[in-house]
Amino acid sequence: MREAAAGGGETFDEAEKLSVDALRELQLTRLRASLRHAYDHVPFYRESFDRAGVQPEDCRSLGDLARFPFTTKDDLRANYPFGMFAVPRGEVRRIHASSGTTGRPTVVGYTERDLSTWADVVARSIHAAGGRPGHTVHIAYGYGLFTGGLGAHYGAERLGCTVVPASGGMTGRQVQIIQDFRPEIIMVTPSYMLTLLDEFERQGVDPRKTSLKVGIFGAEPWTQEMRREIEERFAIDAVDIYGLSEVMGPGVAQECVETKDGLHIWEDHFYPEVVDPITGEVLPDGEHGELVFTSLTKEAMPVVRYRTRDLTRLLPGTARAAFRRMEKITGRSDDMIILRGVNLFPAQIEEIVLRTPGVAPHFQLRLTREGRMDQLTVRAEARPDASPEERAAAVGRIARGVKDGIGVSVGVEIVAPETLERSVGKIKRIVDARPRDESESRP
Ligand code: DLL
Repeated sequence: MREAAAGGGETFDEAEKLSVDALRELQLTRLRASLRHAYDHVPFYRESFDRAGVQPEDCRSLGDLARFPFTTKDDLRANYPFGMFAVPRGEVRRIHASSGTTGRPTVVGYTERDLSTWADVVARSIHAAGGRPGHTVHIAYGYGLFTGGLGAHYGAERLGCTVVPASGGMTGRQVQIIQDFRPEIIMVTPSYMLTLLDEFERQGVDPRKTSLKVGIFGAEPWTQEMRREIEERFAIDAVDIYGLSEVMGPGVAQECVETKDGLHIWEDHFYPEVVDPITGEVLPDGEHGELVFTSLTKEAMPVVRYRTRDLTRLLPGTARAAFRRMEKITGRSDDMIILRGVNLFPAQIEEIVLRTPGVAPHFQLRLTREGRMDQLTVRAEARPDASPEERAAAVGRIARGVKDGIGVSVGVEIVAPETLERSVGKIKRIVDARPRDESESRP
């Protein structure tokens, strides 16, 4: 425990020190067992493998996984609530669910061993972020059916930290608790961290003078510009944590604090592929596409080639040499706005807004329709200290930034400080105000 990783840093567990060859061997053994487990115990997988003409034993190398069919969120919904479970109901110790914007929620289950694996990967993640036994961790991810709060909670306890289970909301009290309990680490969505920032300032407390040293941010996309903003305003290190309930929850991948160069995927439990989102063809490492995961050790709800809809690319390991990194998520395929033929993601707008003087890191994207043309208006908030000239200049700078950088014309509105709705969890950037009946081809 806690020895040097092949890439340099100290590690939480032995697996982080595996060589690439040993990791590939472990993955293949686990993959074959996991495919067999899914096929034998989940009628959905039996049917989908049979339909594709593949059997678990056809997977003789990691590359053979490409012969197996994908699983989508719709498949999970169609088997609502427990149809994807591979163990008898009595062995399921926990259930989580993600609401999504439409339709039935997606339900996921965990056995006792799954919960233990999850705590291990989150402990490993917090450790990679700089957390150590004895540290106090303030968890402001929501507790409940969402995996953020409880996932972070048991991982922090597994690492040997003192946990403050604050959950989301009651922002004034969060600030008080942070001052009184003096946590070194905070785990929260980046957008809620900005809400906390406002509250620190409102209470007249200097956010750079708290006990916090590290923020572990995830559950929604955020950019390098947002990292700079948060690190500067709070005087902390800001690192990225990724996960999704269908695959486990937080702790599928984590950025190491010593390198901050993308998220190491804990590949001994979650096997990643990046595919062309249209053709489904597997892309070589380094190419951009949709992230797909196959669980290697999950008991209650194994997933085979689950389409995350998250867009990124795989890069070689650095601080944890054997574990490939995923680049910061640029967006989800379902958050993509197609504006007069140009593809655009909220994260691209975030970069531009955060580079604009006089503008706060709060913005919203409003879609409307004039005649047959979709219009996008970037509504960004002025910083309280921005001069009228700065505000006026910001309109042109943002519009030009979008036109030059993304190639499409948008409207820009700079609104007064504290007028846009604040996040208490995952932020919703896009407000679709187009007439309902005509917006069938929604992004
Ligand atoms: O958001 C799990 C989580 C909780 C991750 C806390 C990190 C921290 P879901 O609610 O199922 O699970 O949503 C999963 O959120 O497919 C991504 O689109 C997005 N997402 C999660 N982490 C990141 C991240 C949790 N670091 C969906 N960067 C995923 C960008 C993220 N997007």
